[in-house]
Amino acid sequence: MTIGVGLERAQYLLEHGDVVAIPTETVYGLAANAFDVDAVLKVFEVKQRPSFDPLIVHIGRKEQVRDVAKDIPPEARALIDRFWPGPLTLVLPKQQRVPDIVTSGLDTVGVRMPAHPLTLELLRSLDFPLAAPSANPFGYVSPTTAQHVADQLGEQVPYILDGGPCSVGVESTIIGFEPVPVLYRAGGIPVEEIEALIGPVSTTTPHSLGEGPGVRSPGMLLSHYAPRKRVIVGDVPDLMRTHQGKRIGVISFSQDHGAAINEVLSPSGDLHEAARGLFAALRRLDSSHVDLILAEVFPEEGLGRAINDRLRRAAGGVA
Ligand code: TXA
Ligand code: MG
Repeated sequence: MTIGVGLERAQYLLEHGDVVAIPTETVYGLAANAFDVDAVLKVFEVKQRPSFDPLIVHIGRKEQVRDVAKDIPPEARALIDRFWPGPLTLVLPKQQRVPDIVTSGLDTVGVRMPAHPLTLELLRSLDFPLAAPSANPFGYVSPTTAQHVADQLGEQVPYILDGGPCSVGVESTIIGFEPVPVLYRAGGIPVEEIEALIGPVSTTTPHSLGEGPGVRSPGMLLSHYAPRKRVIVGDVPDLMRTHQGKRIGVISFSQDHGAAINEVLSPSGDLHEAARGLFAALRRLDSSHVDLILAEVFPEEGLGRAINDRLRRAAGGVA
């Protein structure tokens, strides 16, 4: 495995059916030629990802959306114009040439144009789009630095393109059209900004939080994005009293709770800064000496929704 900034090396490997870890503004992805079934299979193998969990297809130019998707509704057009390149994935009817392995057999495809200069340059140098899930072992916290990828998948990935730490830090927002716009995953673009542009977005998706195959957004498992250690979300001072005697690590927004380790994500109370640091903080606590990770409930607005969603899933959906 090598970490570097060699676009030509990344391009060569991808053109020859190999996988490459790539930076995006949200999290690092594990990329392969979206039109090459064998290359995409390698992504599933490296991640140990179940085949019912579809991948997002990444494109380097807005027009390329038509190479992978069709029947694009007007709301999707408006979102593309406003938010691409950026942390927004749209689930659209797929073109036949997108292999079933990419979409887990669904007749829709998740597609986005990431806002990272290195990866945009890479995508524009290729004549195929890149299918890429987050570059972590299935179920674990997503990587926001090249080193995070190397720590866990370094042995299996021939090249990690280093684009520095991710500027957003949580995965893309995912929107589907049923035909009304539906939020499948809170993420880097706040749902309020989406609603300001296209009107109400349905957030009550009874199926999307289910487990296993057949749900609307199949990868949205309740236990996901999870460190190995136990995570509990709630009132931190209360929880610290309940768990007295344990070595406790705390993830908080702006307040230091005086635990053994305190990951204060944004002393100034900025949700963007908090999102940017969330996954690295979870990783540090997971590899520290603490027995238990406690996390605050963040304000349920803007990027706070995505932070709360990831923390709940890190807690295994029981929080
Ligand atoms: O920010 C991101 O989206 C990152 C970077 C690398 O782009 N990618 C990412 O991919 O988070 P991943 O594989 O960890 O999550 C993709 C999720 C799937 O688990 C699934 O829930 C949803 O996207 N998805 C993909 N295609 C879909 C489809 N056709 N219908 C419904 N949901 C889909
Ligand atoms: Mg993922």
